[in-house]
Amino acid sequence: MSHSEHEPFMRRALELARHGWGTSHPNPMVGCVIADARGRVIGAGHHRVFGGAHAEVEGLDACRRSGADPRGGTAWVTLEPCNHTGKTGACSEAIIRAGLARVVIARRDANPVAAGGAARLVAAGVRVEFCSASALASGLASPFLARVALGRPWVIAKWAQTIDGRMATGAGVSKWISSERSRRRVHRLRGMVDCVMTGIGTVLADDPLLTCRGVRARRVARRVVVDTRLRTPVGARLVGSAREAPLTILSGSEAGAAALRGAGAEVRALPPVNGRIDLAGALRWLLAERGVATVLLEAGPRLLGRFLEEGLVDEAMVFVAPRVLGDPSAHGPDRGVRAPTLDAAPRLCLVRTRRVGDDVLLHYRRAEGVHLPVGAP
Ligand SMILES: NC(=O)c1ccc[n+]([C@@H]2O[C@H](COP(=O)([O-])OP(=O)(O)OC[C@H]3O[C@@H](n4cnc5c(N)ncnc54)[C@H](OP(=O)(O)O)[C@@H]3O)[C@@H](O)[C@H]2O)c1
Repeated sequence: MSHSEHEPFMRRALELARHGWGTSHPNPMVGCVIADARGRVIGAGHHRVFGGAHAEVEGLDACRRSGADPRGGTAWVTLEPCNHTGKTGACSEAIIRAGLARVVIARRDANPVAAGGAARLVAAGVRVEFCSASALASGLASPFLARVALGRPWVIAKWAQTIDGRMATGAGVSKWISSERSRRRVHRLRGMVDCVMTGIGTVLADDPLLTCRGVRARRVARRVVVDTRLRTPVGARLVGSAREAPLTILSGSEAGAAALRGAGAEVRALPPVNGRIDLAGALRWLLAERGVATVLLEAGPRLLGRFLEEGLVDEAMVFVAPRVLGDPSAHGPDRGVRAPTLDAAPRLCLVRTRRVGDDVLLHYRRAEGVHLPVGAP
């Protein structure tokens, strides 16, 4: 079968996989489509929730429920079937038991613990083909790859700006640059990530809640404030809501921590680097100690600029509103960026543009980085 013949099956598997956003993390999002020996689709599934059945097992269950026999058939999977018995049984064994003749895989498993499924299938006489994964397949695997390859969460930076690139007026007012529809989309995003992060500058200027409101949340994100000198006011709305949605303040100081802790906030002292919170270290800590696999960064120009400069932004969602501020004292996401040349400038790769009401949403991904080779074994 050629690549183009695989395409509709793999595309369906990829679409299914995406349903796992926000619930499968820290596991990868995976989808599976199964066809019988005559090429008729008889089952499909995706990895719904961390700890739950894997996509292949869901697909095989769907075949059984409909009374179809997968023996001699083909499975298209967006990630190499796992080969280990973790929270669930090894998918390679389930496929062998079901008698599938062939498995088509979009991407190898980068996790050394789970890898080896393809080799196990080949050893059992199952034909294994690698179908070069579309951009969508790499996108699906990325949060998972960041965790495995870099030991840090996947960071999605979101910001709203005017046409001339300002994120707030010179007086620090940013409510609201973007439209209500754009903000609703941000609430949906908040309901799909493990953590929403901001800087102390935004806390002091806007007193935000950073919770997911007005839409259905798949999970309650931990709110994180990057605050070197522990200036978060005990009266801040973030602190007042700390018992409903977890709040962690990453600080270089313990002075005043008791009152914040008494109000339900977690204060974590991290050793500052050059007088500021070490952002890469903070991300590693969040993954290792709080299980945070995805971060939505909703910071002001200073913190956002540093994330961009340090190459810690994996995805960016930029809402461009139809306004021009033109105030030279107003800042944009360039605040922490010091690029002397075009070559040295942080670079992102545009993946999608979309109109959201009167705003334009520009969706970027990092231009290079966590991409493992895709192809034949
Ligand atoms: N348009 C938008 O999408 C949007 C979004 C959010 C905010 N805003 C606006 O942005 C403005 C606030 O911006 P801001 O730049 O002052 O606030 P910010 O980026 O939210 O926070 C900046 C602060 O974070 C702390 N920080 C700790 N470690 C850091 C590090 N390694 N690198 C950089 N900063 C670090 C610093 O204070 P310490 O040294 O004291 O820790 C720094 O001043 C407000 O006007 C707000 O309305 C706009």
